[in-house]
Amino acid sequence: MTFGQLRTFVEVARTGSIGGAAAALMVTEPSVSASVAALRRELGVDLLERHGRGIRITPAGKELANYAAQILGLSDRAVRAAREAAGHPGYLRLVGVTTAGEYILPPLIAEFRDRYPDVDVSLEVGNRFTALTRLRNREADLAVGGRPPSHSEIAGEVFQENPLVVVGRPDHPLSRRRSVEPGLLTGETWLLREPGSGTRETTEEFHLANGIEPASLMTVGSNGAIKQAAAVGLGITLMSRHAVDVELQMGSLSVLRVVGTPLRRSWHVLYVASGSLPPAADRFLELLRSSGNSRGRRGSPMKGPPK
Ligand code: PGA
Repeated sequence: MTFGQLRTFVEVARTGSIGGAAAALMVTEPSVSASVAALRRELGVDLLERHGRGIRITPAGKELANYAAQILGLSDRAVRAAREAAGHPGYLRLVGVTTAGEYILPPLIAEFRDRYPDVDVSLEVGNRFTALTRLRNREADLAVGGRPPSHSEIAGEVFQENPLVVVGRPDHPLSRRRSVEPGLLTGETWLLREPGSGTRETTEEFHLANGIEPASLMTVGSNGAIKQAAAVGLGITLMSRHAVDVELQMGSLSVLRVVGTPLRRSWHVLYVASGSLPPAADRFLELLRSSGNSRGRRGSPMKGPPK
């Protein structure tokens, strides 16, 4: 079994087809099929099966794809660790949930690059599911997101507050009130982020906890689009204060002072608890710890990842 075969199989699992994997890897379909056939021969189990006109990955194939992604991520990390130990500049792979990727991480990365100009940094922005998958597969060193999943191998530390506020168009009738009872928001149209978004989850929990039954819901797939939609009066939304600071200052949105808000949430830096972090990731973690009041998951002081 070679890294090339495993990489090919991970793409087949990700794209769901031989053709998709071939396109992603820029190779021919017969070469993808040959890799899958070689793996099947070596393992002695079927990895793919026919499904309608296409193919479907078998349970054995899913297991292999999960491990293959981790093996590839770890091998990449091993290469980087060896190079960094020999004095090469490091490489930091970050993944941020959308709001963190857009508003929280850029200034922190700028500070990091000021301190460590030789370290290359990549930032992938995705939803919570993507961020956690990248971490588990060792395709990212650190993730920044809303909260660590409970009962998992992923640990997290709080490094910054994340207050969430309800905002609407500047002349929204409720924006003039000093205090808005949550029940008054029942008749509103609520703008929600896409499924998989932590903000969406928090909004749904907020509705449930306060007995809010929105007149209607509109899903809008980005913070930027939601802000524009709210500004022109399409609805109201619950959003990280960090994401609406500029609009509030410019007066294109206004805060509705809803009882119980701002919701007090926190930004967490997340990592796989077992194993050590690459040196560049360790340094970024140090920067986050010094930039705010970093605390371990469940609020206890954190010693950091095991070495
Ligand atoms: P989101 O994530 O920007 O994808 O909604 C925010 C969060 O997880 O709190």
